[in-house]
Amino acid sequence: MTSPFVEVVSRSSLRERVDQLGAEISTDLKGEVPVMVGVLQGSVVFLADLVRSMTIDLEVEFLSLTRFGHDGQIGIAMDIADPLEDRHVVIVEDIVDTGLTLASMRRLLEVRNPASIRTVTLIDKAPRRIVEVDLEYRGFEVGDEFLLGYGLDWKGHYRHISSLWAVMDLEVLQENRLAFAQHLGIAP
Ligand code: IMP
Repeated sequence: MTSPFVEVVSRSSLRERVDQLGAEISTDLKGEVPVMVGVLQGSVVFLADLVRSMTIDLEVEFLSLTRFGHDGQIGIAMDIADPLEDRHVVIVEDIVDTGLTLASMRRLLEVRNPASIRTVTLIDKAPRRIVEVDLEYRGFEVGDEFLLGYGLDWKGHYRHISSLWAVMDLEVLQENRLAFAQHLGIAP
């Protein structure tokens, strides 16, 4: 039987691509001190590696979102402490899927009058986009497979897995959320 879990991006390929993104953003924002805004919880692992590959001064902030319903409506559950006025903001996302979350978040931050807003996402699920949204930097473009690891979760689990995995059969996880842990040999 083929495994429902397939490693799609190794730890070393992630490191290489994240380093490239860090270098690119550093070049584009040379002379500025950007605010790197991580969206909790998914972006934490990516952000931690990304900022350490950057070669300019910067600040790190986090915000967390609440979702209402299925139309992508969001609110801010935990906000950034400092004002963003005249700052160069880089939103750091783990994954952009339909684009609804990112589009709402950009609107929420734009009214704070930043000097600029850019977004970097590790994963771009471009074929699933419902709304057009600006996306300045992307690590990897994928199809519609469900991904786990490197910040991405299933019901709060598996964010700490250091490479990226695709779930070929989601029913396996729906029936048993520990199935991936068992596959990795880390189940309790
Ligand atoms: P969007 O609003 O449809 O762009 O979706 C954004 C959110 O959906 C992401 O921040 C993730 O929390 C979640 N998501 C979408 N695809 C995946 C995936 O493949 N694995 C884990 N979470 C995902």
